[in-house]
Amino acid sequence: MPSPDTTPDLTTLRPRLPSPLQESEDERFTRRGLRLLLKRDDLIHPELIGNKWRKLAPNLEAAAGRTVLTFGGAYSNHLRATAAAGRLLGLPTVGVVRGQELADRPLNPSLARCVADGMRLHFIDRSTYRHKSDPSTLAAVLHAAGAQDAYVVPEGGSNTLAVRGCRALGEELRGPADVVAVACGTGGTLAGLAAGLDPGQRALGVPVLKGGFLEDDVRRLQAEAFGGPRGDWRLDDRFHFGGYARTTPELDAFARDFEQRHSVPVEGLYVAKLLYGLVALAEEGAFPRGTAIAAVVTGSPFPS
Ligand SMILES: Cc1ncc(COP(=O)(O)O)c(C=O)c1O
Repeated sequence: MPSPDTTPDLTTLRPRLPSPLQESEDERFTRRGLRLLLKRDDLIHPELIGNKWRKLAPNLEAAAGRTVLTFGGAYSNHLRATAAAGRLLGLPTVGVVRGQELADRPLNPSLARCVADGMRLHFIDRSTYRHKSDPSTLAAVLHAAGAQDAYVVPEGGSNTLAVRGCRALGEELRGPADVVAVACGTGGTLAGLAAGLDPGQRALGVPVLKGGFLEDDVRRLQAEAFGGPRGDWRLDDRFHFGGYARTTPELDAFARDFEQRHSVPVEGLYVAKLLYGLVALAEEGAFPRGTAIAAVVTGSPFPS
């Protein structure tokens, strides 16, 4: 265990960086003169997968040995990754979970994994959860969780350090792709990625939540992280399938088929919607012939 106030050495976790970039033969793209590349961020680390590594690593360093407290829903990839990081680096972690009612129920597999990794869970009601960014609400939550001195990471992990961490994803993709596409929840990954690309490269975000609020959020995240807008990015809001964690038999079938074609595990909440969106855009003729499209594989299915 590191002593308090020491910066954990993340190189001991041996991240696979830069992550691999794989060419994927897919006739839905090739017959339109397009290339599909898969940016395998899911291979960076077996437990700090994909954008979780890029966002958490700078925050774990900044926490400098303090308890790391963060927020998430009952199936949050981010909570699981934070808990795993805590175990791997010997950092105490607290997960503030949306839904007071869950406190009295058996833990689902995702939360059970968090607890097995040493995370202390603190359940709060949905109304308090919505207001968790208000300073007075946050202070009350930290107090109730007995974690006043904790290093706080926001829901989804998208703070300034995280967005700057995701810039490296764009930098790794300079050159080989014309368009880089990523699924968006909070927009932090897109905000950083777009900032790291070369001029002339474009970033495309596919929101998995319904609402149309994300453009403002990405702008705000870039302003906070970089002092203003960066890169050439846009969103396509048509592929959320009804909202977060919503799916359809068609989307599920698409994901299974993609896994079989490419031997890549397809995470269902984000990555499946991204890939579905790219195939639909290719079929619409949205990309000129000759375009190389890199899809970022930001996660992997849980349980695997
Ligand atoms: C697998 C996966 N992909 C993409 C995202 C979206 O990332 P962001 O919240 O930075 O938009 C998330 C959420 O954190 C995720 O778990």
